[in-house]
Amino acid sequence: MAELTALILAAGQGTRMKSNLPKVLHRVCGVPMVEQVIRVVREAGFDKCVVITGFKEELVRKDLEGKNVSFVHQAEQLGTGHAVMQAIPEFEGDKDGYVLVICGDTPLLRSETIRDLSEVCEKNQAAAAVLTAILDNPFGYGRVLRDKAGNMTSIVEQKDGTPEQLAVHEINTGTYVFKAGPLLDALKKIDNKNAQGEYYLTDVFEIMIKAGEKVIPVAADDADETMGVNSRIQLAAADRVLRLRKAEELMAEGVSIIDPEHTYIEQDVKVGKDTVLLPGTMLQGKTMIGENCEIGPDTQLVNVTVGAGNHLNRVYGHDCTIGNNNEIGPFVHLRPDTVLHDHIKIGNFVEVKNSTVDDGTKLPHLIYCGDSDLGKNVNFGCGTVTVNFDGKNKHRCRVDDHAFIGCNTNLVAPVHVGERAFTAAGSTITKDVPAKALSVARARQTNIKGWVKDDTYKD
Ligand code: UD1
Ligand code: CA
Repeated sequence: MAELTALILAAGQGTRMKSNLPKVLHRVCGVPMVEQVIRVVREAGFDKCVVITGFKEELVRKDLEGKNVSFVHQAEQLGTGHAVMQAIPEFEGDKDGYVLVICGDTPLLRSETIRDLSEVCEKNQAAAAVLTAILDNPFGYGRVLRDKAGNMTSIVEQKDGTPEQLAVHEINTGTYVFKAGPLLDALKKIDNKNAQGEYYLTDVFEIMIKAGEKVIPVAADDADETMGVNSRIQLAAADRVLRLRKAEELMAEGVSIIDPEHTYIEQDVKVGKDTVLLPGTMLQGKTMIGENCEIGPDTQLVNVTVGAGNHLNRVYGHDCTIGNNNEIGPFVHLRPDTVLHDHIKIGNFVEVKNSTVDDGTKLPHLIYCGDSDLGKNVNFGCGTVTVNFDGKNKHRCRVDDHAFIGCNTNLVAPVHVGERAFTAAGSTITKDVPAKALSVARARQTNIKGWVKDDTYKD
């Protein structure tokens, strides 16, 4: 089988982004643009991905660690043709192989579009297939020039074109599939005698056509797909497109999204059917939601695993696990390494960190629960605080099944409250409480009669 190699051009800085980060590392729908391009390219069947890097190369390599791509360094950005020349060793082994060239800043392209392009190249035994688009405003792009018979003759860049050439609305999207042999031959012949003093990859087409090779322009069905991101404004536009695609994908699988324009779901997120997502919900990272949940409004979950039948209202959760049939919120903060089991109630203004909470337990209002293990059907009264940090070390609290913690109790860790034990409201518990005991740890109330003299206050 012919070898399929994808070259992803990503050496430029992306000046118009006004960023310290290379342009291709800016994220769309939670994924760096260059990674998004790699995903699409792989889906289209190009398993071997070569990323051409230059500006802040180490950052690009770091973000793509473990993604099974190789890197080619382009020390100086002397043009797109020069960039491809640096990668020649990656594809010269199989002259009958195919080489996809794509930019790292075109995250909206679909894998079908790329697959179609490579099929056109292969089926027609062409030297190249060029993805083009018809734009109302073609300014800035290379224009696809054709002869009277309508056959493509060359591509001319904005800065090199005559007014007549620049009047053409068919543009070069910068995505191509080449047959390796003719590409290698044509690359030898390009130079940098043009307005920008660059080695243009686009010059290979005229060379190929003159050598009698076939070059086929393929107009994209959806010109929006070919959009390149050059500025933050375009980044936001691309993000929106991908976000809506993700929402539509989930809706097609049986998820209800009340207002897709105001729901932010990153690409790797999974949501089960009959779950309803309310406006202002952000599901990020590796978050997974089960079936029959109601999430939102205004809920942000980052790397959170959520089971089935949960209601989460105004919750911020990160790196934690939620079981089934829980009622959480409003205004709840779930911090890393929290594990909630089933049928739990967590109410307003509650923070839970690095704790396990077993079935049926209630933390209804104004609670800090950190580094603790709570059994089944425990009740924390309003204002309960686990005091787990002594200034140097963190300690754990353990509260066993059916224990009842009175309002405004401080549980000073390490401490253990036994099964069915009670603590009196306002207690500061520093010693273990045996099972079924009532622990009272507060000053007894004293009423001093006649404290207020008749002449103390005058109306
Ligand atoms: C290029 C095409 C133009 C097309 C447009 C589509 C050429 C000469 N022109 O123009 O016909 O309409 O894309 O967006 O190819 N890069 C490198 N190394 C370099 C130069 C560029 O890696 O030496 C990378 C950039 O990081 C970028 C991509 O190649 O990802 C495109 O380069 P850019 O300079 O933006 O090309 P355009 O001038 O837009
Ligand atoms: Ca340029």
